[in-house]
Amino acid sequence: MYMKLSTLIISMLAGAIAYGQNPLFIPDTLSGSNINLTIQNGTHQFFTGQVTNTYGVNGNILAPTLLLNQGDSVYFTVNNQIGDTTTMHWHGLHVSPENDGGPHSIIPPNTSWSPKFGVLDKAATYWYHPHLHGITDEHVSKGLAGFILVRDAEEQALALPRTYGIDDFPLALQTKAFDTNYQILSHTNSDSIMMVNATVDPMLDVPAQMVRFRVLNGSSQRAFYIGLTGNQPFQQIASDGGLLAAPVTLTRLLLTPGERAEIVIDFSSLNGQSIDLISYASEFLNGIYGSAAPGMNASMPLTGYNPNPLNGADFTILQYNVGAPTTNAITTLPSTLAAVVPIDENTADKTRTFTFTPMSPGFNQLNGHFLINGNSFDHMVITDTVLLGATEIWEVTNQSAISHPFHVHDVQFYILTRDGVAPPANEAGRKDVVLVKPQETVRFIAKFEDFADENIPYMFHCHLLTHEDNGMMGQFIVIDPPLGLEENLISNKIKLYPNPTKNRLNINAGTENIKSVLIYNLTGELILKTKVNKNKTSLNISNLANGVYLVKINTVNGTKTEKIIIQ
Ligand code: C2O
Ligand code: CU
Ligand code: CU
Repeated sequence: MYMKLSTLIISMLAGAIAYGQNPLFIPDTLSGSNINLTIQNGTHQFFTGQVTNTYGVNGNILAPTLLLNQGDSVYFTVNNQIGDTTTMHWHGLHVSPENDGGPHSIIPPNTSWSPKFGVLDKAATYWYHPHLHGITDEHVSKGLAGFILVRDAEEQALALPRTYGIDDFPLALQTKAFDTNYQILSHTNSDSIMMVNATVDPMLDVPAQMVRFRVLNGSSQRAFYIGLTGNQPFQQIASDGGLLAAPVTLTRLLLTPGERAEIVIDFSSLNGQSIDLISYASEFLNGIYGSAAPGMNASMPLTGYNPNPLNGADFTILQYNVGAPTTNAITTLPSTLAAVVPIDENTADKTRTFTFTPMSPGFNQLNGHFLINGNSFDHMVITDTVLLGATEIWEVTNQSAISHPFHVHDVQFYILTRDGVAPPANEAGRKDVVLVKPQETVRFIAKFEDFADENIPYMFHCHLLTHEDNGMMGQFIVIDPPLGLEENLISNKIKLYPNPTKNRLNINAGTENIKSVLIYNLTGELILKTKVNKNKTSLNISNLANGVYLVKINTVNGTKTEKIIIQ
């Protein structure tokens, strides 16, 4: 039982606008090693004949889909032309703090920011959006959000749908709030208009075969409980940061703000028919933004939540119209996908705890302010310091009445337990956002590798943009402790040869066990990274450009860094 609620709302808003299905907008793609992004003002018609002021990247609304390959070095120019200070953050990517685009990397109006990074991540669906403290919701809601699709050899070797716009589609799910002049509101609970890729009442022509959807919850607050008409099953193949070990068959998928899931729908038997992607929000338990009442129970009707016709209602997200299959259609999925090797809990160096509490108990617990370990966000305060190379368990407890999707920069993590229970298969892969329900404790594990910076922090925060803007965010630095005497002794045992070199670099660590070798160029970008686990290795470096590089060798007992010349 569901109805086209968004249609109802539009006609309420706009009076006599005729109901019509709109073809889904598919953002253009951008790739290559030099990427120019201009953040600009625009306009967009969410409602026929009504002009809404928007922000977009290289266009009126949303941002181009960036196609990156693992191992690429990418140089960006991000030019800010919106007349307001902003930042640009690469959500989910493992990059150094100075290139991460957090609240400290401001781009004042009419200036450019030039981050650069090597793509170290696994194939998955990431995204990018502004991150200026206090106005992230405004900038994202007005249109600043784009996909980043990373490809790698492991994913490429699988028979999966991957032709962008044909059998592989990005779907940015957002609800937005509009004022009576059809202008976008932020920091509000009136987000009653559902849209996908900035298209209200969208429809999409799909071929009668396996089709892949990279679903992003890009909403400020609303969670979706995704399913198909008639409870038809679909398969999830990837979580936030990579492919799952095997496809997971689902009829419902909970997707909270910031999270991504790659799903595959089999349209083979539906040629000539239509089927809807639906949010079954009537099935939500309380305690989540999107349910009938967001508080833990009916006696907690949080101030300012109702009324919103989407709350607790089932509504259509997107209508699929199924047509003829393409040539070379994918008709079955591989039974196994990627090697998912969760970090062993026994290797953790430390457990760090985080507790969410409302600032004023019992009052206005919907929009915050919420505290993390008693703190509200302060640019000048670093609450947590992580040692480079450390493996940590983060234990997160929610002592508030509403669920919070918790996000950590720098790392992909593995969920260990929810209230002591191991996660379901579709949450067992790489994640960078995890929903923490009221009164729940979630434990996850991550390794903080490659990037240390004593000055520029990484963020952790609730990805409900209202909560984040209201201070539900903290920051941590990763530091590389200085070499001790013992480590210098280790360093003397490790030999690199030949140097200068051309095609191969040999490393002999004597009696030391080499864990990993990292090669950086002189601007500090990580160009190559390899795991070793032996005392000797020989690296093929023939595809690296001539020049000077820094090679960092991590052994079980210490680290050595040496300059090499490739000629
Ligand atoms: Cu999607 Cu800190 O952000
Ligand atoms: Cu992020
Ligand atoms: Cu929150």
